[in-house]
Amino acid sequence: MIIMIIKFVDREEELKALRERLKSEKFELIIIYGRRRVGKTRLIIEAIRDTPHLYYLATEGDNLRYFKAIAERAFPHIKYIKEDWEALLHALKDKVIVIDEFPNLIKENPGIISTFQRAIDMELQNSKTKLILLGSSVSMIKEKVLSYKSPLYGRRTASLRLRPLSFFSLRDFFPEADTRELVEVYGLTDGIPYYIAQVKLPFWEWLDEEIKSPLTFFRDEVDFLLKYEFSEPTKYRRILEAIAFGKTTLKEIKDFSGLKHSDITPYLRNLIETDLVKREVPITERPTSKKGRYSLADNFLAFWFRFIGPNLSRIEEGTFSAEEIKESYDDYLGQVFEKVARQFLLRINKQEKPPFKFTRIGKWWHKGEEIDLIALNDKEKKALFVEVKWKDLNLREAKGIIKDLKRKSELTGIKYEKHYGIIARKIKGKERLELAWDLEDF
Ligand SMILES: Nc1ncnc2c1ncn2[C@@H]1O[C@H](COP(=O)(O)OP(=O)(O)OP(=O)(O)O)[C@@H](O)[C@H]1O
Ligand SMILES: [Mg+2]
Repeated sequence: MIIMIIKFVDREEELKALRERLKSEKFELIIIYGRRRVGKTRLIIEAIRDTPHLYYLATEGDNLRYFKAIAERAFPHIKYIKEDWEALLHALKDKVIVIDEFPNLIKENPGIISTFQRAIDMELQNSKTKLILLGSSVSMIKEKVLSYKSPLYGRRTASLRLRPLSFFSLRDFFPEADTRELVEVYGLTDGIPYYIAQVKLPFWEWLDEEIKSPLTFFRDEVDFLLKYEFSEPTKYRRILEAIAFGKTTLKEIKDFSGLKHSDITPYLRNLIETDLVKREVPITERPTSKKGRYSLADNFLAFWFRFIGPNLSRIEEGTFSAEEIKESYDDYLGQVFEKVARQFLLRINKQEKPPFKFTRIGKWWHKGEEIDLIALNDKEKKALFVEVKWKDLNLREAKGIIKDLKRKSELTGIKYEKHYGIIARKIKGKERLELAWDLEDF
């Protein structure tokens, strides 16, 4: 098998922070966690590249024996140490030790956490040892390592929850693509490197081949994500399906999925913790507001539940084609483009380009009305209202949209100095509008 290693993209801040920690003169216990496929392993490999280290990928069983073998290869003196976690950890004092998929270790031996704690307290704490634990089972990492109930609580010196890359980093993966094609790709991959790495351009040709391939990664991916995290994947899948079908409130999800109310709340909480679902409130509300809406956390899940899940048997038969996805893809990209537009505004905000520097950004909705993006500076009492359209507009259409946006802005109750903007795929005559951006500006 040929494994193509793609150039490492972005993650500059994370790399810098990790390398600084690796150089520190004291003990560090660093936890890196995040959704499967998000790039944890690759990040740490890049970070430790120039430092002598031991990298161990935990498996389902026999970890102690494998760990010792790997440690021996990195540090030959380990050969004379007995096969015992505590003895090994003591002997690895002052070294850089990475344990990937740490939750596998916990599964094999739940007592391991106390063993690590003892080793840290007795020996490592006053050394230069760097212990770095990685895990994709966010739920397990949170409960067993980060929570105050964990024996390791209070020992960690840093934790990093890795998020998907931004839309703009897709440019580094596909320098030859135009922005429109990048939005199309992002609609499938989000900023998740593993999915980005699957894609080849031209996008539609690749997609058609991929869904017709008997080996397509699409087929098992969602089951794989759910089985890894949860013992009842079917129920979780029903909830994700409901959300993908536009059910955004607790009640709607309950009616659609047919699950009990008492089940849904903890399940949703778990889905949020594992970065598969997110909950958002209107920007004018507190985080605890009852107006919260649930949505799928990334474009990959949205894509999968909309286009792949319902067609699995046809994909299996080989009778499904990308042409059918293409028919409604622009419609689907409406929500994707909102996410892109939000990142665009954040980006120009850094360059101090909008009419003012905003400090937070979100959406707003009430009854049937909705505003795609609102950016606020509460101190200066300034607000920017933005409508986002995945469409080609002429000047008249754009003006009409802004007029309606002005009307809606009055409904929000925001009493700040108001600015209005529009972001669309293409706006003819945008120079004649005050705040109008299209793909050319991205
Ligand atoms: N910043 C990046 N730039 C380029 N490619 C990347 C980047 N991060 C990850 N990748 C690639 O994406 C794929 C998935 O990354 P990786 O295996 O590190 O994810 P992970 O979070 O460890 O996933 P898992 O939870 O499944 O172990 C790999 O092929 C990796 O080389
Ligand atoms: Mg990994």
